[in-house]
Amino acid sequence: VTKKLLVLPGDGIGPEVMNEVARVVAWMSRARGISFDISEDLVGGASLAVHGVPIRDEVIQAAKAADAVLFGSVGDPKWASVGFDRRPEVAILKLRQELGLFANLRPAKVFDALVDASTLKPDVVAGLDIMIVRETVGGIYFGEPRGIETLPDGTKRGINTEVYTTAEIERVARVAFDLARQRGNRVCSVEKCNVMESGLLWKEVVTDLHARDYPDVELSHMLADNCAMQLVRNPRQFDVIVTGNLFGDLLSDLASMLTGSLGMLPSATLGTVDATGKRPALYEPIHGSAPDIAGKGLANPLAQILSFSMLLRYSFGMDAEAELIETAVSNVLASGLRTADIMSPGMAQVGTAVMGEAVVRELDKL
Ligand code: NAI
Ligand code: MG
Repeated sequence: VTKKLLVLPGDGIGPEVMNEVARVVAWMSRARGISFDISEDLVGGASLAVHGVPIRDEVIQAAKAADAVLFGSVGDPKWASVGFDRRPEVAILKLRQELGLFANLRPAKVFDALVDASTLKPDVVAGLDIMIVRETVGGIYFGEPRGIETLPDGTKRGINTEVYTTAEIERVARVAFDLARQRGNRVCSVEKCNVMESGLLWKEVVTDLHARDYPDVELSHMLADNCAMQLVRNPRQFDVIVTGNLFGDLLSDLASMLTGSLGMLPSATLGTVDATGKRPALYEPIHGSAPDIAGKGLANPLAQILSFSMLLRYSFGMDAEAELIETAVSNVLASGLRTADIMSPGMAQVGTAVMGEAVVRELDKL
């Protein structure tokens, strides 16, 4: 069957790193016989320049019709001064909202060759491979009431409310349990049930769901502050971490720095499976458009390439193909090639295209 892919390169280094993914996609068609139906469109500043909006409705419709979306990054200082709803970044916010992408998957994996890039000691992070699942459309960032009120004495107070429903907790927990079954079979659910009602409900719902549908997966619970500490103390104790929007925001950023390399980290955001069995999904590197290095051919394409590998695994169930890409990346790093962002003494510094070509050459050997 033909897989429908929507490719949205975006701004800055987005198109540069997407060019390298195109080589890997072509390899997959050639060597593994996978048939892709690929369409590409403009988003972000690139769309603003041509269409006057950060994303057109027809692009959103195309994203809904696609089997998966591969996204680059949006953001361009040229458009920094336009109104809030006309910034390039609106493109990704709208896509998340319109596709109902409620679960953000952020792997933090340390490649053997890059173990020295971590901010932690090599013996703490060697072999690290964890996955943080963050709820992204609920919680304190969206809960009502919210706002800034003026009190009778003229002072003010700012209000945000953490709200989670059973259904919201259950659907993200399901994503985490399903993922765990494909990995180390362990889930750690993170909240603050000691001081928060929403945390109490979170723990209860995850515990019930586990007993009902996932008794084969090992479940543990941890308070969010302890989790932050444990991620730095002994990150390898975790397999899959599932948590709400706010804690997930902080913990996933913390975890990404355990690997020490922004240019290496992919992500996925998943929505709800529809009546036809299709799950909306968007894959993107965690880095932005990097305007400081855009146009110079210096960007590390590996986060974007690894985002495509996640796409193959989680949208198409092509685990073997996903693994081929990960192995190829690992081998390229082991051979000593480095882009500037992951450069270390004694290694060979290369640009975006040479790195992309090297991945394809490794794929040819596998
Ligand atoms: P950034 O991730 O674009 O860059 C931070 C630093 O890391 C820069 O020094 C950059 O050169 C470097 N870097 C990032 N990716 C790299 C790669 N693949 N290879 C080598 N070096 C890399 O974050 P920043 O500078 O805060 O944001 C720049 C723009 O990107 C802003 O407009 C921001 O809003 C946007 N952005 C967009 C995201 C998205 O599309 N989902 C996510 C994050 C930021
Ligand atoms: Mg963040």
